[in-house]
Order: sequence, then C-alpha cells, then structure tokens
Amino acid sequence: MKTTWKWSFIVLFVVIVIIGGTYLWKAEEKVRNVNSVSPISLSSDKILNIAHRGASGYAPEHTLIAYQSAQQMNADYLEIDIHMTADGELVALHDEDVSRTTNGSGLVEYMSLTELKKLDAGTWFNIAYPEKADDYYVGIEVPTLEEIFDNFGLHSNYYIEIKDPDPVMTDKFLSMLEDYHLIEENKVIIQSFSAETLEQIHAKYESIPLIQLLYKDEAKSANYNQIRQYASGVGVSYQELDQELVQKIHHEDLHVHTYTVNTAEDMVQMVRWGVDGIFTDYPDRLAEILSNNS
Ligand code: G3P
Ligand code: CA
Repeated sequence: MKTTWKWSFIVLFVVIVIIGGTYLWKAEEKVRNVNSVSPISLSSDKILNIAHRGASGYAPEHTLIAYQSAQQMNADYLEIDIHMTADGELVALHDEDVSRTTNGSGLVEYMSLTELKKLDAGTWFNIAYPEKADDYYVGIEVPTLEEIFDNFGLHSNYYIEIKDPDPVMTDKFLSMLEDYHLIEENKVIIQSFSAETLEQIHAKYESIPLIQLLYKDEAKSANYNQIRQYASGVGVSYQELDQELVQKIHHEDLHVHTYTVNTAEDMVQMVRWGVDGIFTDYPDRLAEILSNNS
C-alpha cells in the first residue's frame, strides 16, 4: 500500500514539474516577443531614419537621453559609436579621446570604466549650445553598451559603428549582441570604416546587415564588387553624393546610407536622389520630411 502511495506521489510531482516548466517557458517567450518592435529590414522600401549619435542636435551625443529623445522622435535606428576601455568594457563614444565630450582628457582605451564613469558627459553641450542647454545634462555619464541594451532592449534598432579595428573588441561586441537576442531578432546593423572588421564579422554572422563606411571622396573610386562580398550597403558623406553616384551604387546592388544630413533642404535632396538611409542629428525633422514624402 505504502509503495503505491509513494509512486503516485512521484508521478504527480513529475507531472506538476512538466506543466509548470512549460508554462514558465511560454511566459518568458511571450515577454520577449511582446517587447520586440518589428525589425526594419534593409530590403524594405522605407528610407531609414538613423539618429546620428542619438538625437545629438538636441542632447549631448551618445548619452541615454540622446537615444531616448531619438526614439521619441521616431528614429528607426539609434546610431552608436563604440570604443573599449582599458578594462574591456564597451562604451558609447565617438572620439577615441574623451576631451571634446567630457570634462576629462586622454584616450578612452587607457581609462578604466570606473575612471570614465566619474566624467561629466553633458556640461560641454550646455556650454557649446547655450540655446539648447538643460540642467538635466549636467553630470550625465558616458553610457556602457550594456546600459544602452538594458535600457532599450528589443524596443529599438541599433546601428553600431566599431571605431577601432580590434578583433578582441569585435568578438566581445558580437557576444553581447547574442546575449541580448539582437541578432536573432534582426535589430542591429553594423558599420565600420574598417573592411577587415566587417569581413571578420561576415565570416561569423552572415545574417547581420553590414555597412561599409567610406571616407569623403572614397565613394567615386571604391571597389563595390569587393564590398558586395560582405556588405549590404555603403555609408557615404552626403557632400560627395549626387544622383549619378547614388544610381551607380544601386547598380552595384548595394544600399546607400548617407551621413550626416541636418538641414531640411539637404534631406529633401537625398530623398529625391533615392538614398536608402539618412544619418541625422535631427530625427524629428527627417521623420516629418519622410512622412510628407510617403
Ligand atoms: O557612422 C556614420 C557616420 O557617423 C560616420 O561618421 O565621424 O560621425 O562617426 P562619424
Ligand atoms: Ca558613426
């Protein structure tokens, strides 16, 4: 009699564990899907609104508030430049030296994250643009990529530039994208001026859309046949573009994303020439032009 009770208890326990486990797995899956905003694939005919360093025309570049503002202004992508600190943390910063956008000085690659986090990354903006100054910006920090992904997660699309061709940094970056499900959810475009870096990424992750950035005056003589082997498109300075060059690059079966377009007049011109994406410090201005154009 006792043995029967024991076995029925064990069977009951196993059934409860299986039902409970399935429910929890489904719930986690649901939460993930509920958060994920539909990704915008490169092949869509939508012109991508890429918030250059966030909405950096309104808030200090590469800060959480700049990214938050960009999202509120309906940018399709948050453009983020990344570097690595001396202790291996990935941070959002354009220059390799912190002097221009913080109250510190020196190369970020020689600083620890603790040292970097002590710097004020907002006051410079209030001084440089008094008409846009906001007390909120005083003392704001340089964000880590982890903080950005924790804040915005699958709610945003990310257009991330690897500034320094460093295989260790690139591998760390790619594993972070994996950890946050940004590759499988098609939420990231990777860009770089370094073809070597992009080829390294393409060899490991064929599905990630890559953009080969071209320096000013490089676009006319670039080897597009070679670029097409690993990239989906090119990032070109708008000052170098004209209708003929846009058509030439499209003929090479590559997307044209252009940087950095801030006046309404130039935005309209880029739309007329048929570019596929526009980097801008003013995503609200571009969103309005794109909605008038749709
Ligand atoms: O990444 C596109 C554009 O931002 C390239 O120029 O100097 O602003 O990073 P830069
Ligand atoms: Ca950039």
